[in-house]
Amino acid sequence: MAQKKVFLGEEFLPKQWYNLNADFPSPMPPPLNPGTGEPPDPGFVEHMGNIFPMNLVEQEMTPERWIDIPEEVLGVYKIWRPTPLYRADGLEKLLDAPVKIYFKNEGVSPPGSHKPNTAVAQAYYNKAFGIERITTETGAGQWGSALAFACQLFDIECMVYMVKVSFMQKPYRRLMMMTWGSNCVPSPTDTTEAGRKVLAADPDSPGSLGIAISEAVEMALARDDTRYSLGSVLNHVLLHQTVIGQEAKLQFDALGEYPDVVIGCAGGGSNFAGLAFPFVADKIAGKEVQIIAAEPLSCPTMTKGPYAYDFGDNNQMTPLLPMHTLGHDFVPAPIHAGGLRYHGMAPMVSHGVNIGLIEPRAYDQIATFEAGVNFARCEGFISAPETNHAIAAVIDAANQAKEEGKEKTILFNWSGHGLVDLAAYDDYISNKLTRYELPEEEIDRALRALEGLPKLG
Ligand SMILES: Cc1ncc(COP(=O)(O)O)c(C=O)c1O
Repeated sequence: MAQKKVFLGEEFLPKQWYNLNADFPSPMPPPLNPGTGEPPDPGFVEHMGNIFPMNLVEQEMTPERWIDIPEEVLGVYKIWRPTPLYRADGLEKLLDAPVKIYFKNEGVSPPGSHKPNTAVAQAYYNKAFGIERITTETGAGQWGSALAFACQLFDIECMVYMVKVSFMQKPYRRLMMMTWGSNCVPSPTDTTEAGRKVLAADPDSPGSLGIAISEAVEMALARDDTRYSLGSVLNHVLLHQTVIGQEAKLQFDALGEYPDVVIGCAGGGSNFAGLAFPFVADKIAGKEVQIIAAEPLSCPTMTKGPYAYDFGDNNQMTPLLPMHTLGHDFVPAPIHAGGLRYHGMAPMVSHGVNIGLIEPRAYDQIATFEAGVNFARCEGFISAPETNHAIAAVIDAANQAKEEGKEKTILFNWSGHGLVDLAAYDDYISNKLTRYELPEEEIDRALRALEGLPKLG
């Protein structure tokens, strides 16, 4: 009988985070100061230090390949890390393809996803810098609940702006945040300039991650003891997640195997990067491994969005980031995978796509729920709607292996459980879900939003 799972002892918890920036074969374009259109100067770095604590700004820009994980962070990671690697032999049987399928179970963390890997690190660095209050945005509520959990452990106040459509769909995430002692409000609110501007144009705005980010950044800049925290996209966030891929490599070593295909779903890119980047490093060094990032057809940042300089938020308060983007004014369709409804993709992931290291794929939400329900029926675990995009890509890769008659080992990131997302499953099971594909006109709108901004390359 096949080995079902691989556990690692606490002594195998990675002691460093990995920074892919040190190994890219061609350097990633720098972020730009929106005021000058130039790479960061000292004034710009100081401005960033008003948004994030300076120790994280430094980590954001570091060229170092390895960054030591502080003892205090390791101590908290031990609550749920190392996470188990599972063999999805039930899914293999269902697909009847010549594949072995493995997944890294990030759903075992207290908030139920990969998000606390960076939330805990960010709460620690804020505390170390003397910050007393953190603001953030959240889509599905996974990030907000992860940060609420982390802030509670490091005794920091936490204020979460939750995208309104998700706030309505997912009351239990809000209750988790409140249980961990945080405050959570539906965005757009009328308490910030950014929120009031959106509400004036559309009083029924469903909100978006871009708008919620604007609100959270504005509130962080309003108080000296407050900083903002982002759950994805930025370099430091992605590197905090690399414990996932490092553990997976040790678990594959224990099995005496190596994956042919590595897959993750991608909203801002963090869980995908966390699993994939240590394998991308091997690919750069010559190893043959296919790396796939799965996104929604309704928010096809990598598959349809241009690679360009754009703002990370709706209100143009962030630096200009080199990324695949649907434009900072993009308001995505209200699909259930709230965490994948973001207009941009992490600069590191975008660069990887642009230089051919990473292959993007897009899936409709109905196909992803079908994949998730099939997975739940043969593996037991009920996935987060975001995670279902990775499972849809796994099924595609398995079917492709079958067509090609090739044996393959597939590894994917099971980024979170869906036990707080059952309303979404209810909509799928009762045939209430609609297919959303981004209309072509939306790409023209994205290009208009990018007009006047510095161009890449
Ligand atoms: C379970 C889960 N997976 C994936 C994502 C997508 O985010 P990222 O691309 O940063 O991993 C989210 C975001 O909320 C999430 O909650």
